[in-house]
Order: sequence, then structure tokens, then C-alpha cells
Amino acid sequence: MSLVELQGIKKFFDNVRAVDGIELEIEDGEFLVILGPSGCGKTTLMRMIAGLEKPTAGQIFIGGEDVTALPPRKRGVSMVFQSYALYPHMNVFNNIAFPLKAQSREKKYDKRAIRDKVENTARLLEIDMLLDRRPRQLSGGQRQRVAIARAMVTQPAVLLLDEPLSNLDAKLRANARDELKEFQRSSNITAVFVTHDQIEAMGLGDRIVVMSQGKIQQIGTPQFIYDDPANEFVATFLGSPSMNILRSEVFSFGFRPENFLPKTLADNPENSRIFHYYIKRVEYLGSDRLLYGYVHGHDNELTLAKVPSNVRVALDVDCDYEFAVHNSDIKFFDRQSGQRIEQQNLQGVV
Ligand SMILES: Nc1ncnc2c1ncn2[C@@H]1O[C@H](COP(=O)(O)OP(=O)(O)O)[C@@H](O)[C@H]1O
Ligand SMILES: [Mg+2]
Repeated sequence: MSLVELQGIKKFFDNVRAVDGIELEIEDGEFLVILGPSGCGKTTLMRMIAGLEKPTAGQIFIGGEDVTALPPRKRGVSMVFQSYALYPHMNVFNNIAFPLKAQSREKKYDKRAIRDKVENTARLLEIDMLLDRRPRQLSGGQRQRVAIARAMVTQPAVLLLDEPLSNLDAKLRANARDELKEFQRSSNITAVFVTHDQIEAMGLGDRIVVMSQGKIQQIGTPQFIYDDPANEFVATFLGSPSMNILRSEVFSFGFRPENFLPKTLADNPENSRIFHYYIKRVEYLGSDRLLYGYVHGHDNELTLAKVPSNVRVALDVDCDYEFAVHNSDIKFFDRQSGQRIEQQNLQGVV
């Protein structure tokens, strides 16, 4: 059995279907990322796993035990909130010690045991020199580590992280991501990490669960979800810039900007589809040139190409070129449902 199992989990707030029938298994030691746009139900789902919110329907199992009716502290789960929610009037030591003291009537930790646990956890997160400081005397990255330490000190079976990096600036975020992954690997804790940021999800997740409107759209490794999206939502949610989608009467087809290259550069032109592409504008982004334009026959559907800067072919604004996409990089979707469909014939469409 998996460490965590969610069976038919729903949460409705009046007429809002925040979470709408989630089936999910989380493995021991896994780093699972839940990815979806704001409002899709990620926080609500985490709060139900933590026991802070009662499901409208469904059951939650942790370590084989049905915990659906258990209070948070009996679940062996800790949550790090987006805001960190540190106690401003307590120093770092007391912030980290707080859940141990709250537990101690049942578990009876004495002062010495609390000190050992706090110091060990702080050392693991490399904040042991900050124990006397107040939260306002810490940087954003240090606060985030204190919040993780506070969640880890009770040695939970599962660590829930709700957008923990979103308050950090872009530069810090890449560092914090790397450290978090290292920490998870070395502590071997099972982590569920929520984000709306697809780059974070791709970089961190052993598996990604893509959510939209309270439902799971797809579950898989980052590479699998990127290469083999189950539907148009997943295809366009992952990747930056997003996948180009062109429409015909009965189906849509898509290809990623980085797979759309001048024909002269195509590895394998006989297995590629050739498009006539009009370039409207060029952006120089350092490592790439980003082209904005239109594919012949699709004059209202802006189509982007991402050409690495070391490709020195002339590509001029207001000119037409032949561009190619390898057949395996073209994905087809049902126009009504958005679901992936098998290869279609593009004859007459482009
Ligand atoms: N306590 C609540 N009462 C009413 N509606 C809520 C409550 N919490 C969340 N919602 C609604 O549920 C939906 C999902 O919210 P949330 O889980 O916070 O999404 P996310 O974390 O993915 O941004 C949203 O439409 C939100 O407005
Ligand atoms: Mg949220």
C-alpha cells in the first residue's frame, strides 16, 4: 500500500466545487508536486490531507490507516503554509519548539529532549546559528527554513508544502529550490509540494499531478507530462512560451515553440511537417531568439518559434520562411473535449 491514499476526495463550499473527486496515491519517500493555476483547489486538498478541513466526501489513508476523522496532530503530517505563519514574538528556537510543546502532554518531551530535537532539526536546515533571532530579523529564505524546521521537528511521515517559495525573489527561489530538493533527498521524507509555477514543478517533482478546477488532469513524471500531455490544458499549462495551438474544424493540433525551427535545420525533414511561416516580430532573449508570426492558413492564431541564439540563420521580420516540426512533436486534440487524439491527417489544414 502507498503511504498516502486519497479516495474520491471532494470538498464543496456552498456551490463552489473546490476539490471534485481526487484519487491519488503517494509513495513513501516521494517528492510529489501538485501543479495548477490559482483557485484550482490545491490548498484545499492539502488542508484536507493535514486534517485542517473536513472532506465533503471521500477517505484519506496514511500508512494504511483511515485518518479521515482524525485531528491534525494524530496524522503524522506537517504543513508549511505559503505565508510561513511564524510567531513574530517568539525567537527561532521557540518557533521550532512550538509543535513539540503543544504535543508534550501526550508525548511528554522534557526540556532537554525539546532542546535536542530543535537543535538537530535546525542543524539539518543550517539555521542553528539563528536560534535566538526573531522572525523579523531574518531574510525571506531564512524564514522559509524556520517554517520547514518547525514542520519537520515532530518527524512527520509526510511534509506538506503550500507554495513555500512564492514569497522569495526570483534569484533566491532557484537556490531555495535546489536546497529543498537536497534536504528532501537526504532526509528521505515524503513531500507534497504545491505550486502554480510549472518550472518549479518540473524541477522538483519525482511526479507531477496537474490539477484544474478541482480535478486531476494528469499524473506522471515531469518529462512524460511535458512530452505526452493528456489534453490541451496540460499541453499549454507546461512550457514557456506555451505550446502553439492551431485549430481546424474538427481537431486542434499543437507543437512547442522550441520544436518549430527553420526547415534548413530540421534533423529529419522527410519525417517532418513543413509550414509556411510569416515572421511579424523578433525578440532577442540572450540564449534564444523568440519569433512571433503566423502559419499560412492560420492568420489569426499567433504562433511562436524559439530558435537558439547559436543558430545563425537569417530570420527577418516581414518575411516568409519554411519551418519544420518533426511529426512526433505534433500533438492532436479533440476540439470539443480537448482530449488528446491519435495522429490526424493535416492535408488541407495547412
Ligand atoms: N473557506 C472557503 N470558503 C469558500 N470558498 C473557498 C474556501 N477556501 C477555498 N475556497 C474556494 O475554493 C476554490 C479553491 O481554492 P484553493 O484551494 O485555495 O485554490 P488554490 O490553492 O489552488 O489557489 C476557490 O474557488 C476558492 O475561492
Ligand atoms: Mg493556494
